Amino acid sequence: MVASSFAVHRFKEIASTNDWLLAAARGGADDRTVVVADHQLRGRGRLDRTWEAPPGSALLASVLVRLPLDPDERFLVGVALGLSALEALQAVATLRAGLKWPNDLVVKDRKLGGILAEVDGAREGPAVVAGIGVNLTWPGPPEANGTSVLEETGLHVDRDALLDALLVGLDIHLGQLEHPQGRGAILDAYRLRLTTIGRMVTAQLAHETVRGSADGVTATGHLLIAVNGAVREVAAGDVVHLRPDEA
Ligand code: BTN
Repeated sequence: MVASSFAVHRFKEIASTNDWLLAAARGGADDRTVVVADHQLRGRGRLDRTWEAPPGSALLASVLVRLPLDPDERFLVGVALGLSALEALQAVATLRAGLKWPNDLVVKDRKLGGILAEVDGAREGPAVVAGIGVNLTWPGPPEANGTSVLEETGLHVDRDALLDALLVGLDIHLGQLEHPQGRGAILDAYRLRLTTIGRMVTAQLAHETVRGSADGVTATGHLLIAVNGAVREVAAGDVVHLRPDEA
């Protein structure tokens, strides 16, 4: 049963659920429009990467959210989606996953899924399109150090059941985003589920690599890394969790 506030559009094949929804947002599509596809021909990941998955092997979905959030609070939509995914995985597959900054779904440092949240500043007011890919039966390409729900649990989880559970949680979390106290609660939950905090990491930035201890996340979602007694604030970049023997 789909949380009734969402209008879900289903595709066998699509270029990218995010691209479809960004175009729909520009055309005035409603808050809480959802797109789900069996297969993407041009799936996109963070940092201009591609996102591939064989047909039917992953949950591939995007949601359009129109909320009057300050620009530096819009990252909370991606966080709300990530938390909803963790809760759905626990409920449907009894799988406890965590988040790797900013929004990867991970199990023991292996990537189970990812989130790409994008903003379209159309005349209807800013829309956030947050897309999620969750590996159900395929762990991703070798370089991704990935895993899948099947690999972690032995279960062939029904994609629609996972999406339904995710939307039930998302309905609640988007409601929380409507008031400051709720936004604070989402941020607290994010910090608790972020496996990055307390780890030695490297962060690949545009012109340098930062190496240090990931000590926190700001109210704007930036990662705080302690480097030789100074604190670096990272807004975007590729973060790697170092193994104990590398740290
Ligand atoms: C990442 O980890 O780099 C983010 C991956 C996001 C992939 C999802 S799949 C559904 C949605 N449509 C896209 O084109 N990308 C996102």
